[in-house]
Amino acid sequence: MQDLEEIKSSALGEISSCKDLHELQQVKAKYLGKKGLVSQALKRIKEIPPEERRDYGKRVNALKELIEEEIKKKEEEIRRKELEEKLLREWQDLTLPLENTIGSVHPITLTLERIVEIFRGMGFSVEQGPEIELEDYNFDKLNIPKDHPARDMQDTFYINKEGYLLRTHTSPVQIRTMLSQKPPIQMIAPGRVYRRDDDPTHSPVFHQVEGLVVDENISFPHMKFVIEEFLREFFQKDVPVRFRASYFPFTEPSAEVDIGCVICNQKGCRVCKNTGWLEVMGCGMVHPAVLENCRVDTEIYQGFAFGMGVERLAMLLFRIDNIKLFYENDIRFLRQF
Ligand code: FA5
Ligand code: MG
Repeated sequence: MQDLEEIKSSALGEISSCKDLHELQQVKAKYLGKKGLVSQALKRIKEIPPEERRDYGKRVNALKELIEEEIKKKEEEIRRKELEEKLLREWQDLTLPLENTIGSVHPITLTLERIVEIFRGMGFSVEQGPEIELEDYNFDKLNIPKDHPARDMQDTFYINKEGYLLRTHTSPVQIRTMLSQKPPIQMIAPGRVYRRDDDPTHSPVFHQVEGLVVDENISFPHMKFVIEEFLREFFQKDVPVRFRASYFPFTEPSAEVDIGCVICNQKGCRVCKNTGWLEVMGCGMVHPAVLENCRVDTEIYQGFAFGMGVERLAMLLFRIDNIKLFYENDIRFLRQF
């Protein structure tokens, strides 16, 4: 009994002099831990004469509850104090006048707005889809087989929810649109996408604008015309453009579109990896399997689709040689736009 009184008074003393949560945690372990003083006291019950054991047990439990209670109170007190200090530290006078801090529109936003305006002018509607997307829409319904390398963990950010991922492109919005609307469809879908990529022209988060046209008698020349018209409007001049045969599981035939590198005037630099060209989009005729997955009658309808990299277009438009500059939020960079 003497022991218990001593434990009680030392515990209460130590709890009350704790200055932060870390110290409190240590005190908690010392008294209430598996090998703590209270547990040890409980084990000594064997040494107590049988007729006193009941009483002793009760006292130990009461002591345990008391210490728990005090620790909880102290914890609340410390948290409250830390919050008050934090609020005081972070206090800002919002009534102070601003000096030279007029904001500017971010170059990616400017570029997105420019792209959207051009397509609106051509009669495209604007659709949206979620960034946390169904694996089924991001891959399966786009005819991307289970063993396709794009599904590799290297490229895709999976999340711990079965069947979902961070979309790797805006193409799942094609699926969403075809499932919810009947042709004729003529839409674009701007948005953020995610990939495990990182170098001067690749960022793990970037923006794409998807385009989809589904109607009767749609052919490759329609697509080529729309893309070339768009690029002319976007750059406000004739820039070197080439369509390069390529492969996507969801289009057939497929192409990638390159723009002559403006950073080096096609002489070769690290942005174009010494090729003189920068890839800005993928495109092609919508694969019949994708149309069928979306219950579109392939006897009547065909379509074309494209997906462009907004950062790449912004780099070419503003002559920016590293994609990272868009995300560092260096005010000296941002003020130029
Ligand atoms: C696609 O994502 C296809 N969904 C495009 C598509 C849509 C093809 C419709 C056919 C029909 P790709 O992985 O090539 O394709 O990416 C398209 C564009 O996004 C590229 O041309 C490039 O400009 C840009 N891009 C790709 N990865 C990155 C990255 N990590 N950072 C910045 N831009 C990127
Ligand atoms: Mg590509």
